[in-house]
Amino acid sequence: MSKLALKGGPAEAFRLKEIVPRWPMVSEEDKRAVLDVLESGRWCRLYAGSKAEQFEKAFAEYHDARYGIAVSNGTVALELALKTVGVGFGDEVLVPAVTFIATASAVTEVGAVPIFVDVKPETATVDPESLEESITERTKAAIVVHYAGYPVNFDEVLPIIKRHDIILIEDCAHAHGTEWRGRKVGAIGDMGCFSFQESKSLTAGEGGIVLTDRDDLAERARLIHNIGRVVGKPGYEHYILSSNYRMTEMQAALLLSKLKTLPKETETKHVNGEYLAERLRKIGGVEPLERDPRVTKRGYYFFVVRYNPEEFEGLPKSLFVKALNAEGVPSGKGYGMPLYRQPAFKRENLKDVLPSWVRMPGYEKLNLPGAERFTASEVTLPHRILLAGREALDLVVSSIEKIKDHVGDLLG
Ligand SMILES: Cc1ncc(COP(=O)(O)O)c(C=O)c1O
Repeated sequence: MSKLALKGGPAEAFRLKEIVPRWPMVSEEDKRAVLDVLESGRWCRLYAGSKAEQFEKAFAEYHDARYGIAVSNGTVALELALKTVGVGFGDEVLVPAVTFIATASAVTEVGAVPIFVDVKPETATVDPESLEESITERTKAAIVVHYAGYPVNFDEVLPIIKRHDIILIEDCAHAHGTEWRGRKVGAIGDMGCFSFQESKSLTAGEGGIVLTDRDDLAERARLIHNIGRVVGKPGYEHYILSSNYRMTEMQAALLLSKLKTLPKETETKHVNGEYLAERLRKIGGVEPLERDPRVTKRGYYFFVVRYNPEEFEGLPKSLFVKALNAEGVPSGKGYGMPLYRQPAFKRENLKDVLPSWVRMPGYEKLNLPGAERFTASEVTLPHRILLAGREALDLVVSSIEKIKDHVGDLLG
């Protein structure tokens, strides 16, 4: 095998640039869909039979949910869900310590207090034991995240939610198409929130949706998202004070068009993800997330492995990721740290965000062992690699094998 690319050798996976699709992908049909809206002059959803309404129905149906409320991005989808279920000033909301910051900032945006819960490194999702231990009389809701498209263990989470009579919100920003025991995520809990930001598996650049099976929550969320107006009743009758979270018709038309190919893409990524995981397990030191037959479909956002430097003669993770990128495999370190380590959670930065009278959690002192171990070892590949097929996946594997074989050259 030739020299490592970091040491001046040829990049093992240089062909990935040619065979992995660029993201976001765009078809002629997608372009036509957006142009049709532009030409129609109906750019806002305040018309009967809007694209937004059509998309809500189609996406909810695909995700085994009764109702969908389309919004402008995934962050406000979470805020809308929290407002809809009645989370407000001073309430505590459980959130996993490993996620994108929006999961927690949506909580502070409605004046509530995020309480960090540990995750299981094997699955990157919430640790049910830690979830239950974190519940107090102030806990109103829990947000769980199907991290990297890996669903939470609903068999363990749902009984806890029921036992303590709290609300369950699913953050599905990474999990379009993901299933637990044959049912898609999103309305297994009380409400589920998705993002359609540019990097996501279904995208319109920006966008989001809230799903639910409950009539009362769907009706309330519609009202809140439309500045207190009843959807389909134009004019100036406002029943509550709220904000405007509406999705544009251009976003909705693009999403409707792209939704047509999502099921097939999800299937491809699921099958390819299993193949890649099997091959990586044999290398040692790059362990994919746990295999669980109850995860009947994985809609990937990241493909995650846990890197163990001991199997690479002590090579630090940052150097491993650098070497992998040099070989032509786009890879990263996920969000890099448990969320409570972000400067935003320093005491001095919280005083203007949380109500002054709430019990301020000591975020700076937190040290959740599962979250620490997971983030220290996490290496991510973007989901688009899984769309490219076996040749691409084999190049990922041979690049890692090459680094392992030549690790001494990086350590010298
Ligand atoms: C887990 C998670 N939740 C929420 C969001 C927020 O979505 P958006 O970027 O559409 O606001 C993201 C976006 O990356 C995310 O990864």
